[in-house]
Amino acid sequence: MTAEREILLEAKNLRKEFGGLVAVDDVSVAIYARTLHSIIGPNGAGKTTLFNLLSGMMNPSRGQVFYQGKDITGLAPHRRAHLGIGRSFQITNIFPNLTVLENVRLAAQAIGKDNFRMLHGADSFPAYEEKAREVLGRVGLNGRESHFAQTLPHGDKRKLELGIMLASDPQLLLLDEPTAGMSSEQVPALLDIIRAIMADGDKTIVLVEHRMDMVMSISDRITVMHQGQVLAEGTPHEIATNQTVQSAYLGALYGDLAKELEDNVG
Ligand SMILES: Nc1ncnc2c1ncn2[C@@H]1O[C@H](COP(=O)(O)OP(=O)(O)OP(=O)(O)O)[C@@H](O)[C@H]1O
Ligand SMILES: [Mg+2]
Repeated sequence: MTAEREILLEAKNLRKEFGGLVAVDDVSVAIYARTLHSIIGPNGAGKTTLFNLLSGMMNPSRGQVFYQGKDITGLAPHRRAHLGIGRSFQITNIFPNLTVLENVRLAAQAIGKDNFRMLHGADSFPAYEEKAREVLGRVGLNGRESHFAQTLPHGDKRKLELGIMLASDPQLLLLDEPTAGMSSEQVPALLDIIRAIMADGDKTIVLVEHRMDMVMSISDRITVMHQGQVLAEGTPHEIATNQTVQSAYLGALYGDLAKELEDNVG
C-alpha cells in the first residue's frame, strides 16, 4: 500500500435488487488510488453486480458511486469511460473478424483522447496505430498484430481484451475474472501484465478473481463479499488470518488462505 490515501473510487451503501433477490446489499467500499484492490467471494456473492454498478452498466436501487470525489451515480458507462474508468466486457467486446491491431486501434479511436483530438482524418491514423502497437507490446501480443482476433487462442483473447481496455488509457481498470477459462500455465503471463500495469505507477485496478494464489500475491487490499454483503476487508494478511473468512464456506471454497499467503507473500 502506498503512502497516498487518496480515494479514487468509492461506493456508498450500494444496493441492487433483482425482483426479490438482493444481489448487492448495502455495500460500501473505498478504492485507493494506485492500488490493486481485489473483490473475492463465492459464486453469486454479488461481485459482478457490484462491477456493473461501478461501471454504470446497471443503476443501483439505492446508494451512490463517487469517482475522484464526484457523484457519478446514474452516469452512463461511456461517460464513465471518458472519466477514466475502464472495464473489461469479456470476449464479446472483441471484433472477431478484425485483426488484433485493428481491434486495439479502434478502441483507441473510440475514446479519442485529448492529445489525438487535434488530429483529423488520415493524420490521426498513425497516432492511433502507434498507440495500438505500444499497447500490444504491453500485453504481450507483439507479433500477433495481423492475426484475426477469432483465430487467437483463449489466453491471447484475454490479453487482447486487456489491450482494448488499455488503449483508452484508463486510470481505473475493473477486471472481472481476467483468468477465466485460462489454463494454469497461461496465468503467470497475465499476472506479469497486471504487475507491469501497476508498476507504471499511475493505474488503479479493481480485480474480481477466484484464483486465490494470484489474489494473495498481487493485492494491496481485499474485500470479501458473501450473499451481497461485505464480509471482511483488509490486507491479504488480514484477510488470510480473518477467522470469519477462514471459517465455513470461504475456507471450504478457497482452501487454506493463510497457507496461500505464506506460499505467495512469504
Ligand atoms: N441481471 C440479473 N437478473 C437477475 N438476477 C441476477 C442478475 N445478475 C445477477 N443476478 C443474481 O444476483 C446474484 C449475484 O450475482 P453476481 O453475478 O453478481 O455474482 P458473482 O459474485 O459475480 O458470482 P460469480 O463468482 O459466479 O461470477 C446471483 O444470485 C445472480 O443470480
Ligand atoms: Mg461474476
